[in-house]
Amino acid sequence: MKTRTLGHNGPTISAIGLGCMGMSDFYGNRDDTESIATIHHALDRGLNLLDTADMYGPFTNELLIGKAIANRRKDVFIATKFGMTRDPADPTARGINGRPDYVKAACDASLKRLGIEQIDLYYQHRVDKTVPIEETVGAMAELVSAGKVRFLGLSEASATTIERACKVHPIAALQTEYSLWTRDPEVTGTLAACRKNGVAFVAYSPLGRGFLTGAFTKPEDLPEGDYRRRSPRFAEENFQNNLKLVEKVQALAKAKGVTASQIALAWVLAQGDDIIPIPGTKRRSYLDQNIAALEVVLNAAELVELNEAFPPNAAAGLRYPESFLTSVNV
Ligand SMILES: NC(=O)c1ccc[n+]([C@@H]2O[C@H](COP(=O)([O-])OP(=O)(O)OC[C@H]3O[C@@H](n4cnc5c(N)ncnc54)[C@H](OP(=O)(O)O)[C@@H]3O)[C@@H](O)[C@H]2O)c1
Repeated sequence: MKTRTLGHNGPTISAIGLGCMGMSDFYGNRDDTESIATIHHALDRGLNLLDTADMYGPFTNELLIGKAIANRRKDVFIATKFGMTRDPADPTARGINGRPDYVKAACDASLKRLGIEQIDLYYQHRVDKTVPIEETVGAMAELVSAGKVRFLGLSEASATTIERACKVHPIAALQTEYSLWTRDPEVTGTLAACRKNGVAFVAYSPLGRGFLTGAFTKPEDLPEGDYRRRSPRFAEENFQNNLKLVEKVQALAKAKGVTASQIALAWVLAQGDDIIPIPGTKRRSYLDQNIAALEVVLNAAELVELNEAFPPNAAAGLRYPESFLTSVNV
């Protein structure tokens, strides 16, 4: 397994991780047996970074991972997140909580669900605009002192927030959406802020939530109740425009004898050794394809071709429903 370093002087982890969210929430039906087999297969192959959050399910994804990693703790580098709360009565509603007392309670609850004594990487899932970042990260730093957490991370934080957070405690990783069709971190300055401060960049949804793989050709291909049916980029009015972008990925994939998903991942991996993509899947077959993307090398001409086909803002539609966008890059 190829490896990358999590921030300056950080631990060495697998060069890609496994996003576990879709195993329990948002993307179609659950298949816990295949999901657990996928996690075991990942660990057997030396992929050790597993990504989850308390709000996936909510809570069921951490429980699933806890079950899967029982007796395999030493093989895993486990990343989880706190700070996005959900209303059981309304699955589309979200709250954000970065208050110090909540941070500590959320950590204890995650440790319990995961069945572990220490979280390797603990992220604030979304920045709470009502609580100074210094207070939230201060509470997270106390979790490190208490031995409950090894490394700290932020998700969808702005360049300014990253700078402020790093003054309180080293931040090992920023987890933010980054892919061919979401190049915002290059424009907003968050990627530059990470590099300046020695923070690794963990790229979530590197396959464009599955769109860039070419697996979907019309909105109805998505299962009923799938979150993506509410995502603007998957909406009827944008779908066909975005498919034209995917055709360019498919053409390059065909020419190189690989899959579109592997081109999408190889592009993210080529953006810097400090970037660790975490493609999500609940199937061993996709996992193997995604690991094999580590061997796909894009030459300079191919990178230019992709960069020209996908300038920032190439995708039709926002990356989140408008109501969710207020909580990103804060
Ligand atoms: N910090 C945040 O706010 C945030 C937000 C979103 C996600 N995340 C994290 O990032 C992880 C990855 O993002 P994501 O799951 O949203 O999107 P993604 O990795 O871009 O795409 C996942 C989708 O692609 C499909 N897929 C995976 N490999 C494939 C392959 N080789 N060929 C064809 N299809 C393939 C999956 O199918 P199957 O499900 O059928 O296997 C799933 O539908 C999540 O699991 C989660 O841990 C974090």
